[in-house]
Amino acid sequence: MKIAILKERAAGETRVAATPETVKKFAALGCAVAVEAGAGLSASVEDAAYAEAGASVGDAAATVKDADIVLGIQAPDVALLAGAKPGAMVAALFDPFGKRDLVDAYAAAGFEALAMEFMPRITRAQSMDVLSSQSNLAGYKAVLAAADAYGRAFPMMMTAAGTVQAARVFVMGVGVAGLQAIATARRLGAQVSATDVRSATKEQIQSLGAKPIFVEKVAGIEGEGAGGYATEMSEEYQKAQAELVSAHIAKQDIVITTALIPGRAAPRLVTDAQIATMKPGSVIFDLAVAQGGNVEGSVADEVVVRHGVTIMGYSNTPAHLPADASALFARNHYNFLSAFWDKEAKRPVLDEEIGNAIRLTQGGKVVNARLLG
Ligand code: NAI
Repeated sequence: MKIAILKERAAGETRVAATPETVKKFAALGCAVAVEAGAGLSASVEDAAYAEAGASVGDAAATVKDADIVLGIQAPDVALLAGAKPGAMVAALFDPFGKRDLVDAYAAAGFEALAMEFMPRITRAQSMDVLSSQSNLAGYKAVLAAADAYGRAFPMMMTAAGTVQAARVFVMGVGVAGLQAIATARRLGAQVSATDVRSATKEQIQSLGAKPIFVEKVAGIEGEGAGGYATEMSEEYQKAQAELVSAHIAKQDIVITTALIPGRAAPRLVTDAQIATMKPGSVIFDLAVAQGGNVEGSVADEVVVRHGVTIMGYSNTPAHLPADASALFARNHYNFLSAFWDKEAKRPVLDEEIGNAIRLTQGGKVVNARLLG
């Protein structure tokens, strides 16, 4: 069983899908691991470290030649996979709704595409969940980036020259990224508040020492849909939420937005009119910028100043922490494949629940219900 790790080719992608640690673990399962030369450099992993861990290091063609499994961060173009075994498994992020052409190309080439972002939100799959591992780091990095762009300090400081006030941080969307953003902002000494459409998050916000800001007494208040994800809210709710946010946001120094709805554009949470009420020097970090943005006027990978407020967001926030993001993503891959490792067959045999959820293509066809439905 050969596992191939290619260098990522997407613009701005700094991560790598295996680390020396996971190479060793795959070797212990009896796999041969091949890594493309230079694959780990932007994540601070030298070729020699892979080789020491037992991988063979070579060019792209040698890496994929006869591979049974290809692991990636972002799925490679099919052309790069020429030489891999027929029907080889490719596990990576596919952006299946955004890149349908890529999915069709995988089907046509006969590969088994496994979309890691479709991993079901079930307890036993937590350790395989790349959205969680990467969102957690993204929530942390968003706060640091916003703090860096902010011309004031986060903690209250009483000095001989006078008192520095604590920054007020408002986190919108309290999933994995939002929870980490709250925790990070608290650690830096800010006064933190947060909101979400899922009322279950209220307690989580409080347990992190932050103040929940929630819409009350409106029809359709419970925004929890399938798999613990948010649903799109009623018009009445959206109006009440906008009023609540308008009153609150004018008093905030930093706003971190993280709200996503699977398979749809990110909900618009902050309007230009609301930004105009914020103090000059405030900073907004839009973690949803790559999915259309929660904030009016945010532009991926650009710093925009509107009404004296700095609005920023990266198209790929985890790529700004390449070493840790790679280490966790690589472990997600290992946890996934090893959980399904069939010792007799010496290969992973996926079960129905997880296999059907993440498998996009097989036997020359697109097979995923979410893409067919
Ligand atoms: P996400 O990235 O899909 O969305 C981020 C947050 O934005 C969510 O909390 C969502 O409720 C919120 N949101 C959506 N629309 C909003 C709006 N209009 N206003 C305010 N907030 C809005 O969420 P993520 O981080 O993927 O987590 C979703 C859920 O899945 C959480 O309950 C999380 O604990 C759970 N989860 C479960 C896992 C497992 O069991 N394997 C793994 C990871 C997460």
